[in-house]
Amino acid sequence: MALAQAGYSVTAVEISDRIRHSGGLADGLAPGSLAVHQDDFYAIALAGRFDVVCYWNGFGVGSDADQRRLLLRVADEWLRPGGVALVDVFNPFVWASWDGDDEHLTPDPAAGYDHDLREVTRFDPVTCTATDTWWESSDPGRPITQTLRCYTPADLALLLTGTGLTLTALVVGDQVLSPVEPRPRFSDLLRDNHEYLAVLRLTG
Ligand SMILES: C[S@@+](CC[C@H](N)C(=O)[O-])C[C@H]1O[C@@H](n2cnc3c(N)ncnc32)[C@H](O)[C@@H]1O
Repeated sequence: MALAQAGYSVTAVEISDRIRHSGGLADGLAPGSLAVHQDDFYAIALAGRFDVVCYWNGFGVGSDADQRRLLLRVADEWLRPGGVALVDVFNPFVWASWDGDDEHLTPDPAAGYDHDLREVTRFDPVTCTATDTWWESSDPGRPITQTLRCYTPADLALLLTGTGLTLTALVVGDQVLSPVEPRPRFSDLLRDNHEYLAVLRLTG
């Protein structure tokens, strides 16, 4: 939605009914600048190709095979030649440092936030997955858990093998890093940012 408001022509795919809340946000946009689909991005058939494919804050849900299936769709079906995919990737270094953290989020009615929530984060160093579990403080018997496969940039580059996509840059906080040149400093990826934006160019 923010991209459409910034003047880009956007096609959005979202599997959940959250997408139904996008209706009013499209008011004032140029006709045809936003197409929304409530659908599965593993299954949907989209007409045409795109200069840019974005996946914000979700890559890593599912198995390595799922991720590769999606990357192949991005490369083979959705991107124009020379196009670029911008993909948020969960950073294992920071998620690992959160293993065992137990957070308590208290309500803030003045800000319109009424929930009293607990969160426990675990990290499995064998599968390189973070497990993030949330529950209402008053209802600990109904936890909701998400499991997130985290990829180091080196792992991500291996995952891309054979997809036609190449990792050409990493955006970490306010820094743009090259995957091959020496890094000015490491703390951004080691400690400060739980995800980084991978710039994947269609080169194959
Ligand atoms: C963590 S949320 C991020 C949402 C949004 N991009 C943002 O930054 O606020 C990941 C989103 O991906 C959606 N999603 C997960 N699997 C999907 C699939 N197979 N097809 C389409 N959307 C999917 C989820 O429903 C969820 O809304």
